[in-house]
Amino acid sequence: MHLAVIVLAAGKGTRMKSELPKVLHRACGRNLLGWALATAEPLKADETVVVVGHEADDVVASLPAGAVGVVQEPQLGTGDAARVGFGACTPDADTVLVVLGDMPLLRPATLEAVIDTHRTERAAATLLTAIFRDPTGYGRVVRENGQVVGIVEERDADEEQRAIKEMNVSVYAFDAAILSDVLGRLRSDNDQGEYYLTDVVGILAADGERIASVVTDEGECIGVNSHADLALVSNVLRRRINDRLMQDGVAMLDPDRVYIDVGVDVAAGVRIYPDVYLQGATTIEAGAVVGPSVHATDSSIAVGATVRYSVLEGAAVGPGATVGPYTYLRPGAELGINSKAGSFVEIKNSQVGPRSKVPHLSYIGDTTIGEDSNVGAATITANYDGFEKNRTEIGDRVKIGSDTILVAPVSVGDDAYTGAGSVISHDVSPGALALERSHQEEIPGYAERRKRRASEDGK
Ligand code: UD1
Ligand code: CA
Repeated sequence: MHLAVIVLAAGKGTRMKSELPKVLHRACGRNLLGWALATAEPLKADETVVVVGHEADDVVASLPAGAVGVVQEPQLGTGDAARVGFGACTPDADTVLVVLGDMPLLRPATLEAVIDTHRTERAAATLLTAIFRDPTGYGRVVRENGQVVGIVEERDADEEQRAIKEMNVSVYAFDAAILSDVLGRLRSDNDQGEYYLTDVVGILAADGERIASVVTDEGECIGVNSHADLALVSNVLRRRINDRLMQDGVAMLDPDRVYIDVGVDVAAGVRIYPDVYLQGATTIEAGAVVGPSVHATDSSIAVGATVRYSVLEGAAVGPGATVGPYTYLRPGAELGINSKAGSFVEIKNSQVGPRSKVPHLSYIGDTTIGEDSNVGAATITANYDGFEKNRTEIGDRVKIGSDTILVAPVSVGDDAYTGAGSVISHDVSPGALALERSHQEEIPGYAERRKRRASEDGK
């Protein structure tokens, strides 16, 4: 068998009221078209063609290697889209699977069932159907003596046909040679003046060809047409991701409040509290505790680390490190083993060495901190002189006093100290105490004199 998959994705998605083509809207970190392609992935198709229309360039640019985009312009209906897609397939294709780009809840096993049935029943066409409680708006599957004889769109249906609960999902397997012939015979004499792919089924039945069907669960067949639909499918996809992770040994206090994108790697033995968002290329290793309230993108959290109430972007939290509450780790922030970034601390493009701590109210940018050092409360690195970003080097076992300003480029040697409130703009030698502070003056009796003057002025 030489299998070609055609994804219909040319529609505008008017009801999204968005500049973005509908199939590029995202659910759990992957766009709708990406979900359609991922569902078909396990079939290992010999070729994949995506029919695009609206904002074609953006959609084609988003395609993974191996998928071919073909533009349908103008968009004359699903039958026309299939014709355009089929035209882009190689002549080798003997089986064609048509799917929609906006139905992300379909499971790979369902597509596999369609292909299997199509093959074992040697059908000309095999369609996927579902029994809907309320099939309003969908095409209905018309059967005679159990055999599929056609599909009728709601707007073209009579009252009896509208009462049919079995809907056409818009997933079909076709014999390629037969499809090629029938696509040329479609007519647009319907209520919308479009070429309906659904008419292929009626034509084949009239020809006496064998039409097979697979019935699937209603819940898999939600098409995305609006933001409400997108939210609905996102919830289902999210729940599937979380269920899989929990099966694999991840603990979640409340999985309805955990938002993990597809592709995020979470190890067994991780504990996740509510209101956690894990996105992009994020990895969480065993024994880590994440949340409540963590938003991590493209970040790693290593074995046994704890991250609470924090935002991480492109950051690496080392084994046993603690982060938060209220920490902002920006790209290039690397926390060493058993280190700490505490409350109201922002760290960017910096390495915090093993067991070193930045516990309170600091900004650390473009800085290297060695081992076992402590950065006092409210310390900041002044890394930007208005022209360039400059680095700060802090050695091992250093004690930076509270409210130190480190004016980069500057370095503080091993075992050195800085006095609280110092503005450090020169390098500090190893083992030294650097103090930059005006002397404290004392004016005795000040309060008493002030009080006297106030009473003289009648105040
Ligand atoms: C279609 C089916 C209907 C089925 C329903 C399930 C037809 C005529 N009807 O109806 O039986 O119950 O899907 O969701 O096929 N598209 C293109 N080019 C076009 C027109 C559409 O690529 O010229 C794509 C759209 O991007 C969309 C899909 O085809 O993803 C379905 O098109 P749409 O017009 O929404 O068909 P429905 O009215 O939903
Ligand atoms: Ca639709």
